[in-house]
Amino acid sequence: MEQYVIKGGNPLVGEVEIGGAKNAALPILAASVMTDDTVYVDNVPDVRDINVMLDTMASLGVMIKHENRHRIILNSANITEYVADNENIKKIRASYYLIGAMLAKYKSAEVTLPGGCDIGCRAIDQHIKGFRALGAEVRIEHGRIKAKAERLRGAHIYMDKVSVGATINVMLAASMAEGLTIIENCAKEPHVVDVANFLSSMGANIRGAGTDVIRIKGVPSLHGSDYTIIPDQIEAGTFMFAAAITHGDVMVKNIIPKHLESISAKLTEIGCEIEEADDCVRVVASKQLRSTQVKTLPYPGFPTDMQPQITVALALAKGTSIVTESIFENRFKYVDELICMGANISVEGNTAIIDGGARFTGANIAAPDLRAGAALVLAALASDGVSVVDDIRYVQRGYEDFHIKLQELGAQIELAESERDISKFRLKTG
Ligand code: EPZ
Repeated sequence: MEQYVIKGGNPLVGEVEIGGAKNAALPILAASVMTDDTVYVDNVPDVRDINVMLDTMASLGVMIKHENRHRIILNSANITEYVADNENIKKIRASYYLIGAMLAKYKSAEVTLPGGCDIGCRAIDQHIKGFRALGAEVRIEHGRIKAKAERLRGAHIYMDKVSVGATINVMLAASMAEGLTIIENCAKEPHVVDVANFLSSMGANIRGAGTDVIRIKGVPSLHGSDYTIIPDQIEAGTFMFAAAITHGDVMVKNIIPKHLESISAKLTEIGCEIEEADDCVRVVASKQLRSTQVKTLPYPGFPTDMQPQITVALALAKGTSIVTESIFENRFKYVDELICMGANISVEGNTAIIDGGARFTGANIAAPDLRAGAALVLAALASDGVSVVDDIRYVQRGYEDFHIKLQELGAQIELAESERDISKFRLKTG
């Protein structure tokens, strides 16, 4: 089992290139089944969740070719199966996008119930509500969601909860429903807009993505497209916080600064200097970090996927901070690991109270989920001594070449597969 072995203490300095957004790429790849034409998707990150999605699509009969590491060619003209069911599909949340996409095109879909990171209850009632409003019959049986319709008809749908997944999934299905669909109380994340742009590039008629209300006029068929995925907001934010946590100076390149506003604002508040240009942002952390308060919220609020990273920074910052998690109920599991490294944090319900000013020391820790795993790596980079991070398969779900990008910024981090690798690393790094 692979681990990261890390010796902390080096400020990260240099430039890092951000890849395509995982959470946009997953629904966009799924949506490629909505046409018989060939679809080219560029800037697809080479991460585990994407590879699971591609394997699953291949098992449905989708022809998939990698033109290079990040450019994928898909053709779904010969889909033979509307049932997505393999062991792997349970591991990713985004498998549910195949329901919206196949329901749109084939009026039939059957997908094993989604898994994903264990960060809370992660209901799918709003997806189901949306599909039913469009006229589908949806049942959950034997661990699978089964959706079927004679025809899909546009509807007026009010989302009871702001949900990225439900907004995208209902948008997929409605794109090929008859007539007008209005979805209210939508998620406004950049990846919702990216999926809408992709569907529009295939001939869908979608207005309002990025606002509370999305209006979709269904079309009978979609055509091929050549589309480039937006940069990953959370990968970018993670490297921005890596600069802050290690008192470094990092230029984060190939990003859309507008998508990072809440992250930049919090970094400024805690004492970092931020310089923005067209497609990059520089984070300089030359002073002692300061405390703050933060609550995770749907976009444009502070992202839940950045909550562990800011908590690590605030554990090191001077003063008392409060972090409130308002999206997922079980997203503080990593705090015990941080406490092992020297953080002073108490969690009460959905709030972490952080008594800052900690000095972290290296420890053996385990990633409980994707973003928390990345945050623990950042904590290890700011620790005295060596840390070993277990369960890094979670980190690899969503970060491409994470340790290599960190190495290029001066971090002492390596992949280890055995005690021997860890001993060698200790010897090498003194
Ligand atoms: C997406 O999850 C992302 N995953 C998550 O990223 C991200 O944390 C989350 O959005 C919030 O931004 C993917 O895109 C694959 P939601 P999703 O539906 O779509 C409740 C990462 O680290 N809800 O916006 O599952 C739900 O329980 C991952 O990359 C319902 O009640 O999130 C939660 O409290 C982790 N009913 C809230 O809404 C529903 O039908 C937001 O969930 C759907 C959701």
